Amino acid sequence: MERKPRIGMMTGGGDCPGLNAAIRACAKTAMRIGYEIIGIHNGWEGLLEHDDEVLDGLRTSGIIDKGGTILGTSRVSPLRVENGIQRVLDRIHVLRLEAIVVMGGEGTLSLGYRMMQEGVQVIGIPKTIDNDVAGTDFTIGFQTAVQTATEALDKLRSTAESHHRVMLLEVMGRNTGWIATFAGMANGADEILIPEIPITEEKLDDLCERLMRRRKMGIKFSIIVVAEGTKILGKSIVQEPAGTQPDTPVARLGGVAQVLGDIIEKKTELETRVSTLGYIQRGGSPVAYDRTLATAFGVKATNLLRQKKFGEMTSLRGTRIVSVPLEKVVDKVKTVDLRTYAVAKRFFAQ
Ligand code: F6P
Repeated sequence: MERKPRIGMMTGGGDCPGLNAAIRACAKTAMRIGYEIIGIHNGWEGLLEHDDEVLDGLRTSGIIDKGGTILGTSRVSPLRVENGIQRVLDRIHVLRLEAIVVMGGEGTLSLGYRMMQEGVQVIGIPKTIDNDVAGTDFTIGFQTAVQTATEALDKLRSTAESHHRVMLLEVMGRNTGWIATFAGMANGADEILIPEIPITEEKLDDLCERLMRRRKMGIKFSIIVVAEGTKILGKSIVQEPAGTQPDTPVARLGGVAQVLGDIIEKKTELETRVSTLGYIQRGGSPVAYDRTLATAFGVKATNLLRQKKFGEMTSLRGTRIVSVPLEKVVDKVKTVDLRTYAVAKRFFAQ
C-alpha cells in the first residue's frame, strides 16, 4: 500500500489564543489534499523527545474557539541541547516528514530557519500576542490580548474614577509596546509607555506635571498603561534573569508598573495604584479576528505546501494574505508604528 506523504506541525514559544484555529485550518486542508499530519508536542522539544501524535479529523475538530494549543508548547531549543540539531534531523527522518509547519514567534521561527540550513523544509506561521514578528502586519493572538487588556483598562477606569486615583496597568511586551499602544488607544489612556520610547528623568517630570495639571482641571483620575519591557532611567525591571530555568532562555520581566507607580506617587502626591495583567492576556478563547486570521494563515500554509514553496512565512499585508521568505523575518523585531502611537498620544493627559 502506498504511504501518504507526511507533514509535521508544531507550536513553539509562548502560547496565544488562535493557535488551535490555525492547527485546525492547516491540518484539515492538508488532509484534504492527501497529507497525513503529525502533531509534534511542545515545540522543538517534541522532536528531541520523540513526543508526537497523528492528527486526524476528529482531533482537529471543535477546537477553533479553544485558547492555548492542543499540541503544547515550550521554549526548548535544540541549539542548547547536546547534539540537538542531529537529534531533531534524525527524528524528522524517522517520521518521514516532507515539511514542518512551524507556528511561532521570532525565536521559534528563527530555529525553523536554522533547520532549513540543515535541509529541513519549513513553512512558518507567525503567532505571538506581542505582534513583534517582522514581515506581517498582525500575528495570531495579538487582537485577543488587546481585547483582554482593553477590558482590564475599562474596569480600572471605573474604580480609578471612584477613588480619584492614578491607575497603572502593566501589560506584556518585552521588546515592543504593541499591546500597550492598541489597548491604551482603545481605552483612551492618559499615557502609554512602551519599550520603543525609554523613560528618561525629563519624560518622568513631564508626565507628573501633566497628571497634576489634569487634576487642577478637575479631572480626578488618570489611566496609564505600560509595557513590561519599558526601561526606566535606562534599566529593565526583571523578575528572573535569563537562563535560570530550561524554559526561560530570555529574562522574565515584570514590575515596571510598580516602580513607576512609586515614583509618580512620590513626585505628584496623587494616590496611585498598580495592576499587572500577566498571563490572563495570553489565555482564553480567541476573538473572531484571531480565529479568521489563523484560519486564513492555516489555509495559506497548505497552499504553500501544495506549491512546494518552502522557507516562506504566511503574512498579512493590509487585507491580503501573502507570504514572505523566512530569511527576511529572522533576527528582526517589528517595533510599534509610531504613526499609530502618535494618534493615541493626541489623547494623553495634556
Ligand atoms: O508570548 C510573549 C510573551 O508574552 C512576552 O511578552 C513575555 O515577556 C513572555 O511571553 C513571557 O512568557 P513566559 O513567562 O511564558 O516565558
